[in-house]
Amino acid sequence: MSKLILVFLGPPGVGKGTQAAKLATDLALPHISTGDLFRDHLKRDTELGQKAKGYMNEGKLVPDELVVDLVMDRIAADDCNEGFILDGFPRTVAQDESLEKALSANDQKVSAALYFDAPRETIVARISGRRTCKACGAMYHAEFSPTAKDGVCDACGGETYQRVDDAAEKVSERLSEYDNKTGPLVPHYREKGVLKQFDAEGGVDDIYGQVKAFVEGLKQGA
Ligand code: AP5
Repeated sequence: MSKLILVFLGPPGVGKGTQAAKLATDLALPHISTGDLFRDHLKRDTELGQKAKGYMNEGKLVPDELVVDLVMDRIAADDCNEGFILDGFPRTVAQDESLEKALSANDQKVSAALYFDAPRETIVARISGRRTCKACGAMYHAEFSPTAKDGVCDACGGETYQRVDDAAEKVSERLSEYDNKTGPLVPHYREKGVLKQFDAEGGVDDIYGQVKAFVEGLKQGA
């Protein structure tokens, strides 16, 4: 079977990270979230983190040249030998071109781009309620999946917080960046014949059932 390389695509806050994490656990594949990689650099105050910080906090995309090397290094690691899940990358057509070039050098290609979409009011509600654990990164939602004790992570007892870029005034900038720069990837992947669209308005488990069935079909057809 060829290597399973999945791209999770969709607007900020639609729930792609939630779905990618579940699938990665089920399939024992690495879940590579560029947002998480950058937040880790921010936390460690690396040179890359310092360069990315301003863009991220303003809700803008980090320039392609800072993102591409980071991802190429990550997918070259041994744990990606059986496949991997990319969450939040590519986010521009140029990023996909870099990915395609790197994969084709090893006779590989993207198996499928899973595109999640939901009405804007759903997206805004999901972003504004998101809470993340500072210590272990576990994710909650103030209304849809709250912690048992307010502000305290159920998993590790760490403190939960709201991401800087989840503030209401930043969300419209993120959505506009998505429309202008990431939206064109939808027709791009459709033309390549690898796009699979999911209605992301339902509950986490309902959506996951559809994702899992699609990926099982993909593995059988490979
Ligand atoms: P990143 O971290 O990738 O942010 P994003 O794309 O904006 O995505 P989110 O993490 O906000 O949302 P999500 O779709 O994963 O939703 P989630 O599952 O968390 O990127 C952050 C920044 O980094 C970017 O703005 C940019 O600056 C930079 N960056 C990253 N990659 C880059 C790249 N390739 N190029 C350039 N710059 C890059 O769910 C959201 C909430 O909803 C959670 O609380 C969750 O519990 C809840 N939820 C999820 N699903 C459901 C459901 N079905 N029902 C109810 N609630 C749900």
